[in-house]
Amino acid sequence: MASSLLLFITLLHTSLLIRSSTSTTVTLPLAHFLPNPVPPSQLKLLNSLVSTSLARAKFLKSPQQPAINANTPLSAHSYGAYSTPLSFGTPPQTIPFVIQTATDFTWLPCTHKYICKDCNSPPPPPSFIPKASSSARFLPCLNPKCGWFHNTEASSRCQDCQPESPNCTQVCPPYIISSGSGYTGGVLLSETLDLTPLKPIPDFIIGCSVFSSKQPAGVLGLGRGPASFPTQLNLTRFSYCLLSHRFDDTSKTSNLVLDLGGPTTSSQKTPNLSYVQFTRNPPAFPTYYYLPLRKMTVGGRRVKIPYKFLNPGTDGSGGTIIDSGSAFSSMAGDVFAAVSTELVTQATYVRDAEMESRTGLTPCFNVSGIQTVSFPEMSLYFKGGAKMALPLANYFSFMGESSEAVCLTVVKDESGASGGPAVILGNYQMQNFYTEFDLRNGRFGYKPQIC
Ligand SMILES: *[C@@H]1O[C@H](CO)[C@@H](O)[C@H](O)[C@H]1NC(C)=O
Ligand SMILES: *[C@@H]1O[C@H](CO)[C@@H](O)[C@H](O)[C@H]1NC(C)=O
Ligand SMILES: *[C@@H]1O[C@H](CO)[C@@H](O)[C@H](O)[C@H]1NC(C)=O
Ligand SMILES: *[C@@H]1O[C@H](CO)[C@@H](O)[C@H](O)[C@H]1NC(C)=O
Repeated sequence: MASSLLLFITLLHTSLLIRSSTSTTVTLPLAHFLPNPVPPSQLKLLNSLVSTSLARAKFLKSPQQPAINANTPLSAHSYGAYSTPLSFGTPPQTIPFVIQTATDFTWLPCTHKYICKDCNSPPPPPSFIPKASSSARFLPCLNPKCGWFHNTEASSRCQDCQPESPNCTQVCPPYIISSGSGYTGGVLLSETLDLTPLKPIPDFIIGCSVFSSKQPAGVLGLGRGPASFPTQLNLTRFSYCLLSHRFDDTSKTSNLVLDLGGPTTSSQKTPNLSYVQFTRNPPAFPTYYYLPLRKMTVGGRRVKIPYKFLNPGTDGSGGTIIDSGSAFSSMAGDVFAAVSTELVTQATYVRDAEMESRTGLTPCFNVSGIQTVSFPEMSLYFKGGAKMALPLANYFSFMGESSEAVCLTVVKDESGASGGPAVILGNYQMQNFYTEFDLRNGRFGYKPQIC
Protein backbone atom coordinates (compact mmCIF):
# COMPACT_ATOMS: atom_id res chain seq x y z
CA MET A 1 0.00 0.00 0.00
CA ALA A 2 2.66 2.41 1.10
CA SER A 3 4.86 1.55 -1.85
CA SER A 4 2.05 2.01 -4.37
CA LEU A 5 1.25 5.37 -2.82
CA LEU A 6 4.90 6.25 -3.13
CA LEU A 7 4.85 5.13 -6.76
CA PHE A 8 1.76 7.22 -7.36
CA ILE A 9 3.39 10.27 -5.83
CA THR A 10 6.55 9.65 -7.83
CA LEU A 11 4.55 9.33 -11.05
CA LEU A 12 2.61 12.45 -10.24
CA HIS A 13 5.81 14.25 -9.47
CA THR A 14 7.45 13.09 -12.68
CA SER A 15 4.50 14.10 -14.79
CA LEU A 16 4.46 17.51 -13.14
CA LEU A 17 8.14 17.88 -13.82
CA ILE A 18 7.69 16.96 -17.44
CA ARG A 19 4.86 19.38 -17.79
CA SER A 20 6.69 22.28 -16.28
CA SER A 21 9.84 21.69 -18.25
CA THR A 22 8.22 21.35 -21.66
CA SER A 23 5.33 23.78 -21.77
CA THR A 24 7.08 27.07 -21.32
CA THR A 25 5.97 28.40 -24.67
CA VAL A 26 2.59 29.88 -25.38
CA THR A 27 1.36 30.67 -28.87
CA LEU A 28 -1.38 33.25 -29.36
CA PRO A 29 -3.09 34.28 -32.58
CA LEU A 30 -2.08 37.70 -33.88
CA ALA A 31 -4.51 39.46 -36.18
CA HIS A 32 -5.08 42.83 -37.75
CA PHE A 33 -7.11 44.86 -35.37
CA LEU A 34 -10.48 45.05 -37.08
CA PRO A 35 -13.10 46.93 -35.15
CA ASN A 36 -16.51 47.81 -36.47
CA PRO A 37 -17.66 49.39 -38.68
CA VAL A 38 -15.87 48.35 -41.87
CA PRO A 39 -13.05 50.61 -43.12
CA PRO A 40 -13.98 53.88 -44.84
CA SER A 41 -12.33 55.01 -48.05
CA GLN A 42 -8.67 54.22 -48.54
CA LEU A 43 -7.88 57.92 -48.43
CA LYS A 44 -9.54 58.44 -45.07
CA LEU A 45 -7.67 55.43 -43.76
CA LEU A 46 -4.34 56.80 -44.99
CA ASN A 47 -4.94 60.27 -43.66
CA SER A 48 -5.65 58.86 -40.32
CA LEU A 49 -2.67 56.49 -40.36
CA VAL A 50 -0.45 59.45 -41.18
CA SER A 51 -1.78 61.57 -38.35
CA THR A 52 -1.87 58.75 -35.79
CA SER A 53 1.68 57.72 -36.70
CA LEU A 54 2.81 61.32 -36.26
CA ALA A 55 0.93 61.77 -33.02
CA ARG A 56 2.41 58.55 -31.71
CA ALA A 57 5.92 59.57 -32.77
CA LYS A 58 5.47 62.88 -30.97
CA PHE A 59 4.28 61.07 -27.90
CA LEU A 60 7.05 58.45 -27.95
CA LYS A 61 9.63 61.22 -28.09
CA SER A 62 8.34 62.89 -24.97
CA PRO A 63 5.94 60.58 -23.14
CA GLN A 64 5.96 62.76 -20.04
CA GLN A 65 4.12 65.46 -21.88
CA PRO A 66 0.43 64.70 -21.88
CA ALA A 67 -0.65 64.55 -25.49
CA ILE A 68 -4.29 64.66 -24.50
CA ASN A 69 -4.97 67.60 -26.74
CA ALA A 70 -3.28 66.17 -29.81
CA ASN A 71 -5.79 66.91 -32.47
CA THR A 72 -5.75 63.74 -34.50
CA PRO A 73 -8.62 61.90 -36.07
CA LEU A 74 -7.94 58.43 -34.76
CA SER A 75 -10.95 56.34 -35.43
CA ALA A 76 -11.34 52.77 -34.45
CA HIS A 77 -11.49 51.51 -37.98
CA SER A 78 -8.21 53.05 -39.00
CA TYR A 79 -5.93 51.86 -36.31
CA GLY A 80 -3.34 50.12 -38.48
CA ALA A 81 -2.53 47.85 -35.57
CA TYR A 82 -2.29 44.20 -34.62
CA SER A 83 -4.12 42.56 -31.78
CA THR A 84 -4.07 39.36 -29.78
CA PRO A 85 -6.60 37.90 -27.33
CA LEU A 86 -5.59 37.43 -23.70
CA SER A 87 -7.57 35.98 -20.81
CA PHE A 88 -7.65 37.48 -17.33
CA GLY A 89 -9.62 36.60 -14.22
CA THR A 90 -11.19 33.56 -12.59
CA PRO A 91 -12.98 32.22 -14.58
CA PRO A 92 -11.00 33.73 -17.48
CA GLN A 93 -12.50 36.50 -19.60
CA THR A 94 -10.96 36.91 -23.06
CA ILE A 95 -10.36 40.42 -24.43
CA PRO A 96 -8.45 41.61 -27.55
CA PHE A 97 -5.31 43.70 -26.95
CA VAL A 98 -3.38 45.84 -29.41
CA ILE A 99 0.31 44.93 -29.16
CA GLN A 100 2.73 47.81 -28.55
CA THR A 101 6.46 47.16 -28.21
CA ALA A 102 7.12 50.78 -27.20
CA THR A 103 4.69 50.74 -24.25
CA ASP A 104 4.98 49.19 -20.79
CA PHE A 105 1.48 49.57 -19.49
CA THR A 106 -1.11 46.84 -20.11
CA TRP A 107 -4.74 47.88 -19.72
CA LEU A 108 -8.19 46.82 -20.84
CA PRO A 109 -11.66 48.30 -21.17
CA CYS A 110 -13.22 47.50 -17.83
CA THR A 111 -16.62 47.29 -16.10
CA HIS A 112 -20.09 47.57 -17.60
CA LYS A 113 -19.80 51.33 -17.30
CA TYR A 114 -16.76 51.68 -19.59
CA ILE A 115 -16.99 54.89 -21.59
CA CYS A 116 -15.06 55.34 -24.82
CA LYS A 117 -15.10 58.79 -26.35
CA ASP A 118 -14.39 59.19 -30.07
CA CYS A 119 -13.86 55.48 -30.43
CA ASN A 120 -16.22 55.28 -33.32
CA SER A 121 -17.07 51.74 -32.50
CA PRO A 122 -20.64 50.91 -31.82
CA PRO A 123 -20.95 48.25 -30.50
CA PRO A 124 -18.65 49.13 -27.58
CA PRO A 125 -15.45 47.11 -27.30
CA PRO A 126 -15.61 43.98 -25.13
CA SER A 127 -15.11 44.92 -21.52
CA PHE A 128 -13.57 43.04 -18.61
CA ILE A 129 -15.93 42.64 -15.64
CA PRO A 130 -13.92 42.54 -12.38
CA LYS A 131 -17.02 41.64 -10.37
CA ALA A 132 -17.29 38.41 -12.31
CA SER A 133 -13.75 37.41 -11.34
CA SER A 134 -12.95 35.89 -7.96
CA SER A 135 -9.25 36.77 -8.34
CA ALA A 136 -9.54 40.52 -9.05
CA ARG A 137 -7.95 42.70 -6.32
CA PHE A 138 -7.28 46.39 -6.15
CA LEU A 139 -3.56 47.09 -6.01
CA PRO A 140 -2.74 48.37 -2.49
CA CYS A 141 -1.21 51.82 -2.37
CA LEU A 142 1.74 50.70 -0.28
CA ASN A 143 2.60 47.89 -2.71
CA PRO A 144 5.88 48.83 -4.45
CA LYS A 145 4.25 47.95 -7.79
CA CYS A 146 1.97 50.96 -7.33
CA GLY A 147 5.16 53.00 -7.76
CA TRP A 148 5.49 51.73 -11.34
CA PHE A 149 2.61 53.95 -12.31
CA HIS A 150 3.02 56.84 -9.90
CA ASN A 151 6.34 58.51 -9.91
CA THR A 152 6.12 59.40 -6.23
CA GLU A 153 7.18 58.04 -2.89
CA ALA A 154 4.63 55.86 -1.14
CA SER A 155 4.54 58.40 1.72
CA SER A 156 3.25 61.13 -0.58
CA ARG A 157 0.94 59.07 -2.79
CA CYS A 158 -0.66 57.11 0.08
CA GLN A 159 -1.75 60.00 2.26
CA ASP A 160 -4.28 57.93 4.17
CA CYS A 161 -1.62 55.46 5.29
CA GLN A 162 0.37 56.30 8.38
CA PRO A 163 3.92 54.93 8.37
CA GLU A 164 3.02 52.92 11.49
CA SER A 165 0.03 51.23 9.84
CA PRO A 166 1.30 48.61 7.41
CA ASN A 167 -2.23 47.26 7.08
CA CYS A 168 -3.46 50.43 5.42
CA THR A 169 -6.31 49.65 3.01
CA GLN A 170 -5.86 52.63 0.68
CA VAL A 171 -5.65 51.50 -2.93
CA CYS A 172 -3.19 52.66 -5.55
CA PRO A 173 -4.41 56.02 -6.92
CA PRO A 174 -6.18 55.99 -10.29
CA TYR A 175 -4.12 56.44 -13.44
CA ILE A 176 -4.67 58.53 -16.51
CA ILE A 177 -2.31 57.73 -19.32
CA SER A 178 -1.83 59.34 -22.68
CA SER A 179 -1.09 57.25 -25.74
CA GLY A 180 -0.31 59.84 -28.35
CA SER A 181 -3.68 60.20 -29.98
CA GLY A 182 -5.87 59.66 -26.97
CA TYR A 183 -5.85 58.70 -23.35
CA THR A 184 -7.21 56.19 -20.91
CA GLY A 185 -7.89 56.18 -17.18
CA GLY A 186 -8.90 53.77 -14.45
CA VAL A 187 -7.68 51.78 -11.47
CA LEU A 188 -4.95 49.18 -11.11
CA LEU A 189 -5.82 45.58 -10.46
CA SER A 190 -3.84 42.56 -9.44
CA GLU A 191 -5.35 39.81 -11.57
CA THR A 192 -4.69 36.26 -12.62
CA LEU A 193 -3.52 35.80 -16.19
CA ASP A 194 -4.56 32.64 -17.95
CA LEU A 195 -1.98 31.44 -20.44
CA THR A 196 -3.22 27.95 -21.17
CA PRO A 197 -1.48 25.45 -21.25
CA LEU A 198 0.60 27.02 -18.46
CA LYS A 199 -0.56 27.26 -14.87
CA PRO A 200 -2.56 30.43 -14.19
CA ILE A 201 -0.19 33.30 -13.35
CA PRO A 202 -1.35 35.24 -10.28
CA ASP A 203 -0.74 38.89 -9.43
CA PHE A 204 -0.36 40.37 -12.88
CA ILE A 205 -0.78 44.15 -12.56
CA ILE A 206 -3.19 45.45 -15.17
CA GLY A 207 -5.08 48.69 -15.71
CA CYS A 208 -8.85 48.47 -15.45
CA SER A 209 -9.85 51.46 -17.56
CA VAL A 210 -13.25 52.99 -16.99
CA PHE A 211 -12.92 55.75 -19.57
CA SER A 212 -10.85 56.31 -22.70
CA SER A 213 -10.64 58.59 -25.65
CA LYS A 214 -9.71 57.39 -29.13
CA GLN A 215 -8.67 53.96 -27.87
CA PRO A 216 -10.32 51.27 -29.94
CA ALA A 217 -9.03 48.46 -27.69
CA GLY A 218 -6.93 47.69 -24.67
CA VAL A 219 -3.15 47.60 -24.98
CA LEU A 220 -0.62 44.86 -24.35
CA GLY A 221 2.56 46.65 -23.26
CA LEU A 222 5.46 44.62 -24.65
CA GLY A 223 8.16 47.17 -23.66
CA ARG A 224 11.24 46.69 -21.48
CA GLY A 225 10.31 48.60 -18.30
CA PRO A 226 9.44 47.07 -14.90
CA ALA A 227 5.67 47.15 -15.43
CA SER A 228 5.70 45.66 -18.91
CA PHE A 229 4.17 42.32 -19.79
CA PRO A 230 7.54 40.66 -20.60
CA THR A 231 9.10 41.94 -17.36
CA GLN A 232 6.20 40.97 -15.12
CA LEU A 233 6.21 37.49 -16.64
CA ASN A 234 9.99 37.13 -16.82
CA LEU A 235 9.69 36.26 -20.51
CA THR A 236 12.97 35.05 -21.93
CA ARG A 237 11.80 35.76 -25.44
CA PHE A 238 8.84 36.71 -27.56
CA SER A 239 8.40 36.67 -31.29
CA TYR A 240 5.88 37.42 -33.97
CA CYS A 241 5.41 37.70 -37.68
CA LEU A 242 3.35 40.65 -38.88
CA LEU A 243 0.83 39.79 -41.58
CA SER A 244 0.86 41.97 -44.65
CA HIS A 245 -1.54 44.92 -44.46
CA ARG A 246 -2.93 43.65 -47.76
CA PHE A 247 -4.94 41.28 -45.58
CA ASP A 248 -6.32 44.08 -43.41
CA ASP A 249 -9.89 43.14 -44.09
CA THR A 250 -9.54 39.40 -43.73
CA SER A 251 -9.53 37.34 -40.58
CA LYS A 252 -6.15 35.77 -41.32
CA THR A 253 -3.91 35.43 -38.27
CA SER A 254 -0.25 34.81 -37.54
CA ASN A 255 1.39 33.90 -34.22
CA LEU A 256 2.63 35.75 -31.19
CA VAL A 257 4.90 33.34 -29.33
CA LEU A 258 5.75 33.90 -25.67
CA ASP A 259 8.65 32.04 -24.12
CA LEU A 260 8.55 31.82 -20.35
CA GLY A 261 11.32 29.48 -19.46
CA GLY A 262 13.94 27.13 -20.69
CA PRO A 263 17.55 27.23 -19.56
CA THR A 264 18.39 30.66 -18.25
CA THR A 265 21.74 30.82 -19.96
CA SER A 266 20.91 29.54 -23.42
CA SER A 267 22.31 31.75 -26.12
CA GLN A 268 21.04 29.49 -28.86
CA LYS A 269 20.05 31.28 -32.03
CA THR A 270 17.04 30.53 -34.17
CA PRO A 271 18.25 29.20 -37.55
CA ASN A 272 18.46 31.72 -40.37
CA LEU A 273 17.82 34.82 -38.28
CA SER A 274 20.04 37.86 -38.42
CA TYR A 275 20.73 39.16 -34.91
CA VAL A 276 21.63 42.57 -33.60
CA GLN A 277 22.22 43.52 -29.96
CA PHE A 278 19.84 46.03 -28.45
CA THR A 279 21.52 49.34 -27.77
CA ARG A 280 21.67 50.34 -24.11
CA ASN A 281 18.65 52.46 -23.16
CA PRO A 282 19.14 56.09 -22.26
CA PRO A 283 17.84 56.73 -18.71
CA ALA A 284 14.92 58.81 -20.00
CA PHE A 285 13.48 55.92 -22.04
CA PRO A 286 13.68 52.58 -20.22
CA THR A 287 10.71 51.23 -22.17
CA TYR A 288 12.01 51.10 -25.73
CA TYR A 289 13.91 48.51 -27.70
CA TYR A 290 16.75 50.42 -29.36
CA LEU A 291 18.30 48.94 -32.49
CA PRO A 292 21.84 49.90 -33.51
CA LEU A 293 20.98 51.30 -36.94
CA ARG A 294 24.21 52.41 -38.61
CA LYS A 295 23.29 53.31 -42.15
CA MET A 296 20.60 53.20 -44.76
CA THR A 297 20.94 52.71 -48.46
CA VAL A 298 18.62 53.53 -51.33
CA GLY A 299 19.38 51.68 -54.54
CA GLY A 300 22.74 50.70 -53.06
CA ARG A 301 23.68 54.34 -52.47
CA ARG A 302 24.46 55.35 -48.92
CA VAL A 303 22.09 57.87 -47.37
CA LYS A 304 23.92 60.30 -45.11
CA ILE A 305 22.42 60.16 -41.64
CA PRO A 306 23.94 62.73 -39.32
CA TYR A 307 25.91 60.93 -36.62
CA LYS A 308 23.99 62.46 -33.74
CA PHE A 309 20.87 60.57 -34.83
CA LEU A 310 22.45 57.12 -34.84
CA ASN A 311 22.96 56.56 -31.12
CA PRO A 312 20.69 57.62 -28.29
CA GLY A 313 22.52 60.31 -26.29
CA THR A 314 22.46 60.36 -22.51
CA ASP A 315 19.69 62.96 -22.79
CA GLY A 316 17.61 60.43 -24.75
CA SER A 317 17.79 62.10 -28.13
CA GLY A 318 18.64 60.05 -31.20
CA GLY A 319 18.63 56.33 -31.85
CA THR A 320 16.23 53.93 -33.54
CA ILE A 321 13.41 52.07 -31.81
CA ILE A 322 10.92 49.50 -32.97
CA ASP A 323 7.22 50.03 -32.26
CA SER A 324 4.57 47.55 -33.35
CA GLY A 325 1.96 50.14 -32.29
CA SER A 326 2.94 52.75 -34.91
CA ALA A 327 1.58 52.11 -38.38
CA PHE A 328 4.13 54.05 -40.46
CA SER A 329 7.74 54.54 -39.49
CA SER A 330 8.70 58.07 -38.62
CA MET A 331 12.04 59.75 -39.10
CA ALA A 332 13.42 62.98 -37.71
CA GLY A 333 13.31 65.78 -40.30
CA ASP A 334 16.98 65.57 -41.34
CA VAL A 335 16.95 61.78 -41.63
CA PHE A 336 13.72 61.82 -43.59
CA ALA A 337 15.02 64.51 -45.93
CA ALA A 338 18.15 62.50 -46.69
CA VAL A 339 16.12 59.36 -47.49
CA SER A 340 13.42 61.04 -49.55
CA THR A 341 15.93 63.14 -51.52
CA GLU A 342 17.75 59.98 -52.54
CA LEU A 343 14.47 58.28 -53.52
CA VAL A 344 13.35 61.25 -55.59
CA THR A 345 16.75 61.45 -57.28
CA GLN A 346 16.70 57.80 -58.27
CA ALA A 347 13.00 57.34 -59.07
CA THR A 348 12.09 57.29 -62.74
CA TYR A 349 8.51 58.54 -62.24
CA VAL A 350 6.98 62.00 -62.05
CA ARG A 351 6.04 63.39 -58.64
CA ASP A 352 2.33 63.53 -57.92
CA ALA A 353 1.79 66.65 -55.83
CA GLU A 354 -1.95 66.21 -55.77
CA MET A 355 -1.69 62.76 -54.18
CA GLU A 356 0.83 64.12 -51.69
CA SER A 357 -1.62 66.70 -50.48
CA ARG A 358 -4.51 64.26 -50.42
CA THR A 359 -2.69 61.59 -48.43
CA GLY A 360 -0.28 63.63 -46.33
CA LEU A 361 2.48 61.30 -47.51
CA THR A 362 5.53 62.35 -49.49
CA PRO A 363 7.00 61.71 -51.97
CA CYS A 364 4.24 60.26 -54.18
CA PHE A 365 4.76 59.36 -57.82
CA ASN A 366 2.41 59.13 -60.74
CA VAL A 367 2.49 55.55 -61.98
CA SER A 368 -0.75 55.69 -63.94
CA GLY A 369 -0.73 53.18 -66.78
CA ILE A 370 2.57 51.62 -65.74
CA GLN A 371 2.48 47.83 -65.70
CA THR A 372 5.37 46.98 -63.40
CA VAL A 373 6.36 49.60 -60.92
CA SER A 374 9.90 49.43 -59.67
CA PHE A 375 11.83 51.47 -57.15
CA PRO A 376 15.35 51.37 -55.76
CA GLU A 377 15.78 48.94 -52.88
CA MET A 378 15.79 50.44 -49.41
CA SER A 379 17.96 48.71 -46.83
CA LEU A 380 18.84 49.25 -43.21
CA TYR A 381 22.24 48.18 -41.88
CA PHE A 382 22.91 47.53 -38.24
CA LYS A 383 26.04 47.50 -36.13
CA GLY A 384 27.97 44.35 -37.00
CA GLY A 385 26.81 44.51 -40.60
CA ALA A 386 23.39 42.83 -40.43
CA LYS A 387 21.30 44.02 -43.35
CA MET A 388 17.54 44.39 -43.51
CA ALA A 389 16.36 44.77 -47.10
CA LEU A 390 12.78 46.01 -47.05
CA PRO A 391 10.35 44.49 -49.54
CA LEU A 392 8.96 47.25 -51.77
CA ALA A 393 5.48 46.89 -50.23
CA ASN A 394 6.95 47.81 -46.84
CA TYR A 395 7.89 51.32 -47.89
CA PHE A 396 5.72 52.15 -50.91
CA SER A 397 1.97 51.71 -51.25
CA PHE A 398 -0.38 52.14 -54.15
CA MET A 399 -2.86 54.99 -53.77
CA GLY A 400 -5.98 56.16 -55.49
CA GLU A 401 -9.07 54.54 -56.93
CA SER A 402 -7.17 52.95 -59.79
CA SER A 403 -3.78 52.69 -58.06
CA GLU A 404 -2.56 55.59 -60.17
CA ALA A 405 0.06 56.67 -57.66
CA VAL A 406 2.50 55.24 -55.14
CA CYS A 407 3.59 57.00 -51.96
CA LEU A 408 6.38 56.45 -49.46
CA THR A 409 4.82 55.04 -46.29
CA VAL A 410 7.21 56.75 -43.91
CA VAL A 411 6.31 59.98 -42.15
CA LYS A 412 8.50 62.96 -41.44
CA ASP A 413 8.54 63.84 -37.80
CA GLU A 414 8.93 67.57 -37.45
CA SER A 415 7.96 67.78 -33.82
CA GLY A 416 11.31 69.48 -33.32
CA ALA A 417 14.70 68.76 -31.86
CA SER A 418 13.21 68.14 -28.44
CA GLY A 419 14.84 64.74 -28.11
CA GLY A 420 13.54 61.22 -28.20
CA PRO A 421 14.27 58.53 -30.79
CA ALA A 422 15.21 59.81 -34.26
CA VAL A 423 13.78 56.80 -36.10
CA ILE A 424 10.72 54.79 -35.08
CA LEU A 425 10.23 51.61 -37.08
CA GLY A 426 6.50 51.07 -37.42
CA ASN A 427 4.53 47.98 -38.37
CA TYR A 428 4.22 48.78 -42.10
CA GLN A 429 7.98 48.47 -42.38
CA MET A 430 7.95 45.16 -40.49
CA GLN A 431 5.26 43.38 -42.53
CA ASN A 432 6.25 39.87 -43.54
CA PHE A 433 9.20 39.81 -41.19
CA TYR A 434 9.57 37.24 -38.46
CA THR A 435 10.95 39.17 -35.50
CA GLU A 436 12.28 37.80 -32.25
CA PHE A 437 12.87 39.82 -29.09
CA ASP A 438 15.48 37.70 -27.33
CA LEU A 439 15.33 39.33 -23.91
CA ARG A 440 17.63 36.85 -22.19
CA ASN A 441 20.45 37.71 -24.58
CA GLY A 442 19.47 41.34 -25.17
CA ARG A 443 19.17 41.01 -28.90
CA PHE A 444 16.78 41.33 -31.80
CA GLY A 445 16.52 38.67 -34.49
CA TYR A 446 14.72 38.94 -37.81
CA LYS A 447 14.26 37.36 -41.19
CA PRO A 448 11.93 38.01 -44.09
CA GLN A 449 9.07 35.52 -43.98
CA ILE A 450 5.63 35.35 -45.56
CA CYS A 451 3.57 35.24 -42.38
C1 LIG B 1 -1.84 44.21 10.76
O1 LIG B 1 -2.50 42.97 10.52
C2 LIG B 1 -1.90 41.87 11.22
C3 LIG B 1 -2.58 40.58 10.73
O2 LIG B 1 -3.96 40.78 10.55
C4 LIG B 1 -2.04 42.10 12.71
O3 LIG B 1 -1.45 41.03 13.41
C5 LIG B 1 -1.33 43.40 13.09
O4 LIG B 1 -1.53 43.69 14.44
C6 LIG B 1 -1.86 44.57 12.26
N1 LIG B 1 -1.04 45.74 12.48
C7 LIG B 1 -1.55 46.95 12.74
C8 LIG B 1 -0.57 48.05 13.01
O5 LIG B 1 -2.75 47.18 12.73
C1 LIG C 1 9.50 36.96 -12.13
O1 LIG C 1 10.68 37.13 -11.39
C2 LIG C 1 10.50 37.85 -10.18
C3 LIG C 1 11.84 38.10 -9.56
O2 LIG C 1 12.68 36.98 -9.67
C4 LIG C 1 9.56 37.05 -9.26
O3 LIG C 1 9.32 37.77 -8.08
C5 LIG C 1 8.24 36.84 -9.99
O4 LIG C 1 7.38 36.04 -9.23
C6 LIG C 1 8.45 36.19 -11.33
N1 LIG C 1 7.19 36.17 -12.04
C7 LIG C 1 6.71 35.11 -12.69
C8 LIG C 1 5.41 35.24 -13.34
O5 LIG C 1 7.36 34.07 -12.75
C1 LIG D 1 17.69 28.15 -43.62
O1 LIG D 1 18.00 28.63 -44.91
C2 LIG D 1 18.42 27.61 -45.81
C3 LIG D 1 18.88 28.26 -47.10
O2 LIG D 1 18.01 29.27 -47.49
C4 LIG D 1 17.27 26.61 -46.00
O3 LIG D 1 17.68 25.58 -46.88
C5 LIG D 1 16.89 26.03 -44.66
O4 LIG D 1 15.77 25.19 -44.81
C6 LIG D 1 16.56 27.13 -43.67
N1 LIG D 1 16.38 26.56 -42.35
C7 LIG D 1 15.31 26.81 -41.59
C8 LIG D 1 15.26 26.12 -40.29
O5 LIG D 1 14.41 27.57 -41.96
C1 LIG E 1 -0.43 60.92 -64.34
O1 LIG E 1 0.06 60.50 -65.57
C2 LIG E 1 -0.94 60.31 -66.55
C3 LIG E 1 -0.32 59.67 -67.79
O2 LIG E 1 0.92 60.26 -68.06
C4 LIG E 1 -1.63 61.64 -66.85
O3 LIG E 1 -2.66 61.46 -67.79
C5 LIG E 1 -2.23 62.17 -65.53
O4 LIG E 1 -2.79 63.44 -65.73
C6 LIG E 1 -1.17 62.25 -64.45
N1 LIG E 1 -1.81 62.57 -63.18
C7 LIG E 1 -1.39 63.54 -62.39
C8 LIG E 1 -2.17 63.76 -61.12
O5 LIG E 1 -0.43 64.22 -62.63
